[in-house]
Amino acid sequence: MAKHSVTKRFGILTAGGDCPGLNAAIRGVCRGAHDRYGMEIVGIANGFRGLIDEDTKILKPEDFSGILTRGGTILGSSRVKPFGGTTSEKEVVDSDKVSAIKETYSKLNLDCIVVLGGNGTNTTGYKLSREGLNVIGLPKTIDNDIFGTDKTFGFDSALAIGTEAIDRLHSTAQSHSRVIVIELMGHKAGWLALHAGVAGGGDVILIPEIPYDIRTIGQHLEKRAKSGKTFSIVVVAEGAISIKEAEMDKKDRKKFRMENGPSVAYRVASEINAETGMETRATVLGYVQRGGIPSATDRVLATSLGTAAVELLANGKYGRMVALTGSDIGSIDLRVPEGKVKNVPTDHYMIDTARAVGTCMGIGADV
Ligand code: F6P
Repeated sequence: MAKHSVTKRFGILTAGGDCPGLNAAIRGVCRGAHDRYGMEIVGIANGFRGLIDEDTKILKPEDFSGILTRGGTILGSSRVKPFGGTTSEKEVVDSDKVSAIKETYSKLNLDCIVVLGGNGTNTTGYKLSREGLNVIGLPKTIDNDIFGTDKTFGFDSALAIGTEAIDRLHSTAQSHSRVIVIELMGHKAGWLALHAGVAGGGDVILIPEIPYDIRTIGQHLEKRAKSGKTFSIVVVAEGAISIKEAEMDKKDRKKFRMENGPSVAYRVASEINAETGMETRATVLGYVQRGGIPSATDRVLATSLGTAAVELLANGKYGRMVALTGSDIGSIDLRVPEGKVKNVPTDHYMIDTARAVGTCMGIGADV
């Protein structure tokens, strides 16, 4: 006998970059909603695009069975932004898309939509709630940069992938006495590069939060060489930036990157070679970090967040985002993460941990 629920019928969508654990989260939401409360579930295809185009289907138990360990998302994803980008003067509201979403929401007789996504997705969810829709957010991203939750699923799986890659690069760098630069994802926050760099024993770790000085890096690598270390591993987040670039305006930075290559790993490899004469190579790990099956930790976190979202649905607690605080699963107002990014604080203990084992963070008293 199903328990009483305020929510009778809801939509679920995944938007933004995919990650391992999304299907585990979908399963957590759907199994809990269907088995415990008898709710009807409308799967929405490809993020907010599916709401705009009314590309939906009723999800049956067979749709969310056997997906716990599958990578990616059975619903598909997109980066369609119904509210467009924001400009410095005002927010660009694509009223046609928003109207289409509201029309679909009422036509499908939804009591709520559950949105699984990163900063952009949960911000869109909050803006839709201001338009009168009931929304519940569920944080996901390999970047772990969502404000208001201590960790996101996807991060642990990507950390394992990044760490294994760094382990593998050690043997080839040593065989060729090279400096190898590996680029991990994280265009706004350096959590993944920082953790994988420490886990993999990176000699240099560069993150967006700490603009780097190539001379400091060169001195560190030369000091290693003088101590007999014939190779080095440099771990960079895709959003890492030099002090020189940080001082440029947007136009000059874009020009600089057009002239020096869009990938920070290749720029840093070339700068290190110019600075030290050392033989360097670069590897961009890219979408490998977002593929494959979720780690056990991500499965547990995704399932816990999914079932926590069901309790919000059952109690009609809309306008919230489920979140991990310490070891507790709770929820916060969907307004909290809106438009924010959870960056690595420059006094975060992991930065001191890295430095304490001799890692150069690109500036300061590392040498
Ligand atoms: O937001 C997660 C993320 O994987 C970022 O780390 C990365 O920069 C971005 O998505 C890539 O976006 P896309 O999949 O649209 O190329």
